[in-house]
Amino acid sequence: MAKYKIAWLPGDGIGKDVMDAARIVLDAVELDAEYLPGDVGWEFWRTEGDALPERTVELLKSTDCCLFGAITSKPKQEAEGELVPELQGKGLVYFSPIVRLRQLLDLHTNMRPCKAYPGNPLNFRDDIDLVVFRENTEGLYSGVEFYPLPDEVRNALLKNHPKMARFAEVPAGEIALSCRIFTRRACRRIVRQAFEYAKRYSRPSVTVVEKPNVIRETSGMMIREARDIATEYPGIELWETNVDAMAMWLVKNPEDYSVLVSSNMFGDIISDLCAQLVGGLGFASSANIGDDYALFEPTHGSAPKYAGQYKVNPMAMLLTVKLMLEWLGEADLAQRLGNAIAAVIAEGKVRTYDMGGAASTLDVAQEVARRL
Ligand code: NAI
Ligand code: MG
Repeated sequence: MAKYKIAWLPGDGIGKDVMDAARIVLDAVELDAEYLPGDVGWEFWRTEGDALPERTVELLKSTDCCLFGAITSKPKQEAEGELVPELQGKGLVYFSPIVRLRQLLDLHTNMRPCKAYPGNPLNFRDDIDLVVFRENTEGLYSGVEFYPLPDEVRNALLKNHPKMARFAEVPAGEIALSCRIFTRRACRRIVRQAFEYAKRYSRPSVTVVEKPNVIRETSGMMIREARDIATEYPGIELWETNVDAMAMWLVKNPEDYSVLVSSNMFGDIISDLCAQLVGGLGFASSANIGDDYALFEPTHGSAPKYAGQYKVNPMAMLLTVKLMLEWLGEADLAQRLGNAIAAVIAEGKVRTYDMGGAASTLDVAQEVARRL
């Protein structure tokens, strides 16, 4: 029996292209794993009314971790229009499989490394080495939202908060509410992950990115818990930066920062900024980590216009594979893969279109495999 069972979910569009690239390097490092393919994505929404069929959730539960390609998502009405005729008009609602999996499997930590590999022509600077830890299950993405605003909700707010008075007379159809929900548990969990990472990889600082001077209660809670947890890590400095200023600092002197930690939406935004500093979507890897399960995916989507053409950059996916190897405890294999990726980028001979080259997705993967 293989040492690991890995759920294999290519999904849609270029998800399949980059997963083929992933397989080339996984076979080359000879990871002792069995790869179990699962159904996810647009085709299953269209034909079954569910982009994440229950059998796929069961499959994931029987594995050690999951490697995920990308999926196509479309707005509500368009999604309904593409259902097969038998499923139309049944009130089926499209939900993003990836958001559902994060919540279902309690994958509370979203980790996104953004390292500038020397020789990448897309680097903003060559000395950037950031890792973003983004809370993955709550905050402004909790999904607790209202439109139109029910009277009962408005009245409760009017009764409990003086600042709501300003909105007392706005018609229900002209006011929308999205709740930013933080729990102490989730704040502590994400901050601890950031500090544990900093400790393991000898990082000098952890920067908590919030806005406590304005969003007092939620951001305030995150900062309070961060200060408390920081006391357990004497060698690592805690820096506190407001999210708006952080956007500016990240463009001005990104090399000064190391590990960043934030809530769901701020983390989402900041991590896209960080990714662009080191080459953009073709280089942006990510891990969704829970207490005993993890799902690994490149940050990019299904890029339908390139689907099946093997044109896109597989580096985001190969860096994602590196994260998976690290999480599995295969530090040696992860390091070999990291070195091979660095060597191919530094040499600059085999590059996809986004880096100014003409190599295919699989050419790049094969070149990385050759360097292992
Ligand atoms: P996208 O990330 O799929 O592609 C945007 C553009 O970025 C592409 O057209 C391409 O020019 C470039 N790009 C993306 N990946 C690249 C790579 N590996 N190498 C080189 N260039 C690359 O975003 P878009 O077009 O906004 O969304 C397409 C579909 O993907 C939508 O249905 C969207 O909902 C979905 N999506 C899914 C995500 C996921 O699976 N986690 C994340 C983002 C979008
Ligand atoms: Mg995003």
